[in-house]
Amino acid sequence: MRVASIVGARPNFVKLAPLSKELRRHCEEIIIHTGQHYDYALDRIFFSELGIPEPDYHLHVGSGTHGYQTGEMLKRIEETLISAPPDLVLVFGDTNTTLAGALAAAKLRIPLAHVESGLRSFDRRMPEEINRILVDHCSDLLFCPTETAVRHLAREGITEGVHLTGDVMVDVLRGSVHLAIGKSRILEEQHLAARGYYLATVHRAENTDNIENLNNIVAAFCEIGDVVFLCHPRTERRLKEYGLWDRLNACITVLPPAGFFDMICLERNAKMILTDSGGVQKEAYIFKVPCITLRDSTEWSETLEEGWNVLAGADRDAIISLAEGFQPDEGSHTELFGRGDASARIVEIIRSTFGD
Ligand code: UD1
Repeated sequence: MRVASIVGARPNFVKLAPLSKELRRHCEEIIIHTGQHYDYALDRIFFSELGIPEPDYHLHVGSGTHGYQTGEMLKRIEETLISAPPDLVLVFGDTNTTLAGALAAAKLRIPLAHVESGLRSFDRRMPEEINRILVDHCSDLLFCPTETAVRHLAREGITEGVHLTGDVMVDVLRGSVHLAIGKSRILEEQHLAARGYYLATVHRAENTDNIENLNNIVAAFCEIGDVVFLCHPRTERRLKEYGLWDRLNACITVLPPAGFFDMICLERNAKMILTDSGGVQKEAYIFKVPCITLRDSTEWSETLEEGWNVLAGADRDAIISLAEGFQPDEGSHTELFGRGDASARIVEIIRSTFGD
């Protein structure tokens, strides 16, 4: 059996890592990289740290408007799937790469499996929400990380091919923590003490492309002070454009995006995480670090219900007061995302559905 895994952006690579390992024990896998992310810090470093095999096809699509990017990817993925037809296409998460891969497979009538299916933020202004809904509605196998995700699909009439597998992020984190501790020097390099800093990431369009939101977030970070901010290239560009870059650098530590090992060490040792990323909210929960989400909605609603995550939007005062006073209850943590066997379960389901 030949499986084509389609990836292109940082969160896709991380989810591919444990699955690729498991898939290659039983099937032939080809990796198609769309080229959505191309900076070393968002792309190559994940392949080398996580030992992901080199992509068999690199489509070099790069950046652009959502329509351009998704359209170019769709065209090039279709050509690739026609030239090397797989028995199953595997897509991950909710990026434009995920949508393009899913559409290409569905139009060619190649069976499609979606890893991290059923997530909903119920905010259709987010490009990722549109991507998730569309991908789920054309998938044949839907691998859900949580029971909430299964319920979301049922509410939209999707019950066939749905499997509760746990989250592959637990697999990859479990497999990487010891390596990360051994290899990362980021805490020493940045003179950071465990629980002595807040870790922040911001890259969502709703924050980066809105001067008022970005201004409020910068003001909150400056007031909090002990913030290590990992800055995505699009955010850096906007901060410079809006004249906020120098002010931010004067009051907190601004670093380029971290590789996976450095990220793990930074997350595990932070006293709190402030982020608008989906994956980082989940990593905070898995590492039992309180998280303030810089958005008005989240697709990881269970983390709110258990009290480990809280929504602050881009509200300066809310961010500051939560950073001072937010304290989850240790006893409320229930390992929402499974125990680290999601990849094995996913591959087992693929094999039993399609044969070896
Ligand atoms: C994408 C995903 C988002 C994910 C994020 C992780 C979509 C719709 N969004 O957002 O869900 O959380 O990846 O990072 O797919 N850029 C670079 N170098 C790169 C890649 C991008 O400088 O290697 C800049 C470009 O200016 C580009 C902008 O970042 O236009 C946005 O990149 P894009 O891939 O479109 O979306 P992300 O914001 O990275």
